[in-house]
Amino acid sequence: MKRQTIFSGIQPSGNIHLGNYLGAIKNWVELQNQHHSTFCVVDLHAITVPQDPTQLQKKTIEIAKIYLAAGINPQKSTLFIQSQVPQHTELMWLLNTITKTGELFKMTQFKDKSAKTQKENTSAGLLNYPILMAADILLYDTDLVPVGEDQLQHIEITRTLARRFNHRFGETFKVPRYYIKKEGKRIMSLNDPKSKMSKSDPSDYSRINLLDSPEKIREKIKKAVTDSGKEIKYSDQKPALKNLLNIFSLVTDTSVDKLEKKYQGRGYKEFKEDLAEAIITFLVPFQKNFHQLSDRKVKVILEEGRQKITPLAEEKIIAVKKKMGCWA
Ligand code: AQP
Repeated sequence: MKRQTIFSGIQPSGNIHLGNYLGAIKNWVELQNQHHSTFCVVDLHAITVPQDPTQLQKKTIEIAKIYLAAGINPQKSTLFIQSQVPQHTELMWLLNTITKTGELFKMTQFKDKSAKTQKENTSAGLLNYPILMAADILLYDTDLVPVGEDQLQHIEITRTLARRFNHRFGETFKVPRYYIKKEGKRIMSLNDPKSKMSKSDPSDYSRINLLDSPEKIREKIKKAVTDSGKEIKYSDQKPALKNLLNIFSLVTDTSVDKLEKKYQGRGYKEFKEDLAEAIITFLVPFQKNFHQLSDRKVKVILEEGRQKITPLAEEKIIAVKKKMGCWA
């Protein structure tokens, strides 16, 4: 693949879990070696649902630290905080004017999240979330957006807005593509294999957080729901087990086939105990890196990122405003 421009981000809206890592961050770490990569902590997205302001600031630094501990290298990638580059919100307004409300109301994430609040209390920010995401991506002439499968609809609307803008005002934006790997694209909840593992799930037992202690991981895997029967089998009829096998395969880099054979005739108990140990082992180097990084160092890297990225954002916003007939 020729050198591409990569952009992605994660909201500081809770504890980063294995789903976020296997669906997104793992791919970022690989892509940064060959491509021009930018990764953002999208705090403006997080405030589309209520957040504690002090916690949000702390979480934002924690997420950046997680990127670094997981292998994002500031020599290869640019890291910054979304709210520190005001052109994201400026472009969002401009794109707002070409977005149809019908397109926003049909977004699955909006429907899911707004269902959790009374209709009249749902923030306009939650509805407009995909436009801000489109702005994040389009601002930097992104080619590829590495995300988990749940973000597919948001990438589609980004593509639609880029094409619509180009059609109305002349060629301005690159039309980006998503980058989703089959493995890890949707890690499911440990409590409910029909829902995806999520930061905002009120039950901490639904997910493995990257910073969970070994004891916590053992307890969570022990409590994870399994399906009826005893056989360790990867099948749609056994969605809970399928999810656990998938996680086991990804954290040990072993094929599901091999795992099925290994656990043939052995019960869920032994399988789950081994899975917990495999996750713990997998997280050891990450957690070690995380605890060695100081907040001060992370803030310096984020500031360098902000300084590096700002001229690109400024240049793009001027071009977009001029095309639309606004004063730049
Ligand atoms: N369960 C998952 N499996 C695979 N990938 C996942 N991602 C999220 N959950 C899974 C990917 O991780 C990145 C995080 O994106 P986000 O912070 O913008 O929010 P999200 O997709 O809505 O993730 P969460 O964890 O469910 O957060 P909340 O609960 O705050 O909404 C994305 O690339 C996503 O696809």
